[in-house]
Amino acid sequence: MPHDTDLDRRLAAGAAVAREAGRLARRYFERRADLTVEVKGPQDLVSVADRAVEELIRARLSALFPEDAVVGEEAGGLAAARVWVVDPIDGTQNFLRGLPWFGVVLALMVDGRTELGIIYDPNTDELYTARRGGGAFLNGESIRVSGCAQLDKAVIGVGHSPRHAPHVFLEPFTAVIEAGAQTRNLLTAALQLAHVACGRLDATWDPYLLPWDVLAGILLVEEAGGAAAPYQLRPDFSGGAPLLAGTAALVDALRPLVTDRADKE
Ligand code: IPD
Ligand code: CA
Ligand code: CA
Repeated sequence: MPHDTDLDRRLAAGAAVAREAGRLARRYFERRADLTVEVKGPQDLVSVADRAVEELIRARLSALFPEDAVVGEEAGGLAAARVWVVDPIDGTQNFLRGLPWFGVVLALMVDGRTELGIIYDPNTDELYTARRGGGAFLNGESIRVSGCAQLDKAVIGVGHSPRHAPHVFLEPFTAVIEAGAQTRNLLTAALQLAHVACGRLDATWDPYLLPWDVLAGILLVEEAGGAAAPYQLRPDFSGGAPLLAGTAALVDALRPLVTDRADKE
């Protein structure tokens, strides 16, 4: 494990890289009509913007920390003892439709544990940062999850995708609605987690998300005083798993409705 000063340096550098990457994403966003869109899978799109932003992040991180590995959504990579896990644009579908809800996501994992989480929203110029044991921050100000403990007072982020059968979402979703919660699907799992960390949402749940969608945001929520159900991460970062994070009381209340139920599928 690196010394604390190494993590401090990586947090400051990672934040600067996320801001620069976000500015590049915004420039592509402004001319999105000119971008060729490729289909990676059902409802799964990619454009030159995703690739160029990831390339920028890789170039900066490799120059600053040549000994660190990088795993990114678009260009892959191999896991290592110290590895940055990168989603260059979380919310690609929003991006390509002109909806200004997307973010740049960087997590640093050391020996299989997330030590740093960085999410940048270039549309609002909001930078979310967390360091394990060091708290969570929005543009340098300390943030906390909401105090919400009741499902019938909660607003909960949700998400679903063609990567799972519809009932895996619909049955728990019905239970959440029946419990009286309001829901939002912002189509960006990372920003939903960031909004939980600063108390704008009370919890967030999706039956299947990939590591680069969630690792940074889970740390943000935990460091903001919230909780997450265990996220089943494979050592090579392949595949996805259910995500549930929020205030500790809501995670307890939601677990039997969502993740525990999905585990039985
Ligand atoms: C997507 C977003 C979305 C979630 C999808 C993800 P992408 O990431 O996080 O909220 O519902 O499952 O794939 O493709 O925009 O990076
Ligand atoms: Ca993503
Ligand atoms: Ca992405």
